[in-house]
Amino acid sequence: MKILDTKYMGLRLKNPIIVGSCGLTATIEGLKRIAQSGAAAVVLKSIFEEEIIKEHEETLKNRIGYQDNNLEFLDYFDYQLKSDTLKNMADLIAKAKEEIDIPIIGSLNCASSGEWISYAKHLEKAGVDALELNMFKLPFDIEQQADEHEKLYLSIVEKVKKHIAIPVSVKLAPYSSNLAAVIKKLDDAGVDGVTMFNRFYNVDFDIMTDEIKAGDPYSSKMDYYNTLRWVSIMSGKVGCDLSASTGIHNAETAIKMIMAGATTVQVVSMLYKDGIGSVAGILKNIEFWMERRGYLSVDEFRGSVHHEPGENSERFERVQFMKYFSGHNPEEII
Ligand SMILES: Cc1cc2nc3c(=O)[nH]c(=O)nc-3n(C[C@H](O)[C@H](O)[C@H](O)COP(=O)(O)O)c2cc1C
Repeated sequence: MKILDTKYMGLRLKNPIIVGSCGLTATIEGLKRIAQSGAAAVVLKSIFEEEIIKEHEETLKNRIGYQDNNLEFLDYFDYQLKSDTLKNMADLIAKAKEEIDIPIIGSLNCASSGEWISYAKHLEKAGVDALELNMFKLPFDIEQQADEHEKLYLSIVEKVKKHIAIPVSVKLAPYSSNLAAVIKKLDDAGVDGVTMFNRFYNVDFDIMTDEIKAGDPYSSKMDYYNTLRWVSIMSGKVGCDLSASTGIHNAETAIKMIMAGATTVQVVSMLYKDGIGSVAGILKNIEFWMERRGYLSVDEFRGSVHHEPGENSERFERVQFMKYFSGHNPEEII
């Protein structure tokens, strides 16, 4: 057995590094380069139901003779657009299956609860090895109860699990009224993995023009703390596998996530910033560190430092600085 071998959601992986869903995983060229880099698996760019609907509206607006009261035509068009998207995705999966030899995980983000099942079935039929459900709706509705979104996520997972046989993971946002309870409920509902966490499109302001602009789409190497905390907290408390995501830019952080209990780590921003080849560097440095520490397999150190009731648990649960500055002279810091 190779020392980096890992089993994730029942899939045999040659190491714990997965390239997460992003633009680089949307083309066969990107997938080939990712496979060459040594990554053990890849999550395809998500199918976004919302995007399909938007594209549908644009195309209809531009179409001569379009009548917005012709419901049959609208229905047909909607159907056609969805099947085009799914056909393109199925073609990509078929090509990837021919050209690369690492597991391919499909990714889905649907706006309506009804569509998840049909998209999931299509992806399974197209040949993905597992499916990641990219779930998050920004809870900005002040009329809505805190647990409404969570109930929706659970019902989607239960339905999808009933209709497909491949492993299913849920990619979560770090925002929830009670994250630990939500993850436990997803685990009870039968998910095979939880990816913690997604990072979203951020809004920023230009203070000279008063315009709204996009924030930096990429994480930095210091963005990993929240993921580390939560992987540590959930490790050992759920039966499903945990995949760490956000802020993993080097071997050191990848190792920390595994020490916290992650089965796999997902990298994205690192590839945009340092190139796809940076995966090979991470793998080399993990092996180097394992040799130095005398570990023969990743399993040997997985979960070696995590949240357990007792002496150390307070360190994971504390969020306020409280006495932090009592030993420091603020003037010295400035
Ligand atoms: C350009 C770009 C595109 C992304 N597209 C998707 C996507 O389609 N689906 C998804 O679940 N996550 C998507 N993500 C989020 C990443 O998969 C990942 O969860 C996030 O970037 C945090 O990981 P990182 O810190 O390694 O970048 C995207 C991220 C970036 C930077």
